[in-house]
Amino acid sequence: MVDSLKKPTFEEIRPGVKVPAKETILTPRFYTTDFEEMEKMDISANEEEIRAILEEFRVDYNRHHFVRDEEFEQSWDHIDGETRKVFVEFLERSCTAEFSGFLLYKELSRRLKEKSPVLAECFLLMSRDEARHAGFLNKALSDFNLSLDLGFLTKSRKYTFFKPKFIFYATYLSEKIGYWRYIKIYRHLEAHPEDRIYPIFRFFENWCQDENRHGDFFDAILKSQPSLLNDWKARLWCRFFLLSVFATMYLNDLQRADFYAAIGLNARDYDIEVIEKTNETAGRVFPIILNVNHPSFYQRLDECVKTNEKLSAIANSNAPGFVKFFQKLPHYISNGWQFLNLYLLKPINVEPSHGVVR
Ligand SMILES: [Fe+2]
Ligand SMILES: [Fe+2]
Repeated sequence: MVDSLKKPTFEEIRPGVKVPAKETILTPRFYTTDFEEMEKMDISANEEEIRAILEEFRVDYNRHHFVRDEEFEQSWDHIDGETRKVFVEFLERSCTAEFSGFLLYKELSRRLKEKSPVLAECFLLMSRDEARHAGFLNKALSDFNLSLDLGFLTKSRKYTFFKPKFIFYATYLSEKIGYWRYIKIYRHLEAHPEDRIYPIFRFFENWCQDENRHGDFFDAILKSQPSLLNDWKARLWCRFFLLSVFATMYLNDLQRADFYAAIGLNARDYDIEVIEKTNETAGRVFPIILNVNHPSFYQRLDECVKTNEKLSAIANSNAPGFVKFFQKLPHYISNGWQFLNLYLLKPINVEPSHGVVR
């Protein structure tokens, strides 16, 4: 059959179950933390806001949202070749990221249940949302005759340990950037329905509201812990996490520009908009934001993109491991240098604007 010739093949654990993408510094991570420290956290400084968000979570606005309708029930074989490959990769990446959120929030809700019931319920309800998101994406993969074995992922992936405060910076940003990513795609396809090649994007509008609420929860948590926001260390960490989250997305997306092109988006322009918006949003809680309009900001990121292309060419070559290592080394140093320079770019102090209604 001609169709099957055009279809890219994916490695499978067993028929229809995809071998998970190789873990790299850029793939979504699974996290664990110090649960005892989190349990002892005093949230009373902002408990009212946290309880209000819990009420929102309880309402469960998207209870009936994630239902596959008849538009899914057709053959997707016409999405073929390179587009199919990048499409499947997009679904897998998104599913893994959502599932990673589910695992972390679920575990937090379990561990905090006794000593911190308000937080435990918030985490439980967020894990409910993430489970839906991951499940919906995994179901979408099945339209391409693949799926992820999430149980296998749970057991086989490495977990990165982050102290609670780092979990808060990182999850706050990943929820907010997730919101902007989903809504930007949704708005673009709303204006250009001819580019909506698959129905899942129609669901992004309500979906991103879940991420926005999750982000608001972490915003409220951060505000309940002033020490995470008001000293020089907080400023340095906020800078670090903003840059890490932006750079990771940028490098990932530019490597997969074909996916964005398939839905009529220019990956670079899309990322610049998402970074702009997320940076602005972060300014409502972080004391500083990055100077993303500085001429060297994207110049340096673009250098890293080029370096990464060279790195993946080396990784895909047939040279022996130690040769590859020495070939890669100067590129790692170059990326490290760019990252350091980006980190040292003077940030924008936004503290004075806090509390001002915008
Ligand atoms: Fe999600
Ligand atoms: Fe989320």
